[in-house]
Amino acid sequence: MSFDRTIKIAPSILSADFANFGQEIQAIEAQGADWVHVDVMDGHFVPNLTFGPPAVKAFRPHVKTIMDVHLMITPVDPYIQAYADAGADILTAHVEAGPHTHRTLQAIRAAGMKAGVALNPGTPAETVEQLLDLTDLVCVMTVNPGFGGQKFIDMTNKIRRLRQMIGDRPVHIEIDGGVDPKTAPLVAAAGADVLVAGSAVFKGGSVENPSIYGENIRAVRAAAKSALT
Ligand code: DX5
Ligand code: ZN
Repeated sequence: MSFDRTIKIAPSILSADFANFGQEIQAIEAQGADWVHVDVMDGHFVPNLTFGPPAVKAFRPHVKTIMDVHLMITPVDPYIQAYADAGADILTAHVEAGPHTHRTLQAIRAAGMKAGVALNPGTPAETVEQLLDLTDLVCVMTVNPGFGGQKFIDMTNKIRRLRQMIGDRPVHIEIDGGVDPKTAPLVAAAGADVLVAGSAVFKGGSVENPSIYGENIRAVRAAAKSALT
């Protein structure tokens, strides 16, 4: 996985048809998705429950790009190896999920994955300042995690601050929650390069009508890029 800061669109399969993940993943990739974002929820760290390692392992053969796994679970450490075995390329843990994020990030890298750290809206950028050399991605939540389709919360000051803190390090800034063609330019201008989008990508389309996914992906990408010129 090489590093660059071009805009990447990562559709969240939380908004896909849960009875048809394989075809949904193939459809979004064929329609231009750069990464596939997989939201793992435990009904404890967040008030919703999605899927665990066996499901993520079943997604793997369908993902030809990058499988970006966002853990909204606590504890994290006992499950790191299971997600490595399931084939995650990037494994992101929340900084709020426990007192030892430093150890968690080391363990994720030691298991052969890229290590991400996510921040809830109420958590300041400075929380990850001492973790940046252990991190490949900082995920800035622009909703309170747990559900797709929520209203975007403006975190542009936090994104700018993180972009400064990251400097020349090869660390992605990913935005998760309420990203659509209206909000994408704000976060791209502030320094984000990976845009997760669930409802904005899947709305109106289906595996029978996948060209809508393509239109939706292009609309988010074009809006983000327009902020950079
Ligand atoms: C929220 C998840 C997100 C979410 C994005 O807990 O981490 O990935 O599904 O969905 P939208 O784009 O619909 O806000
Ligand atoms: Zn997510």
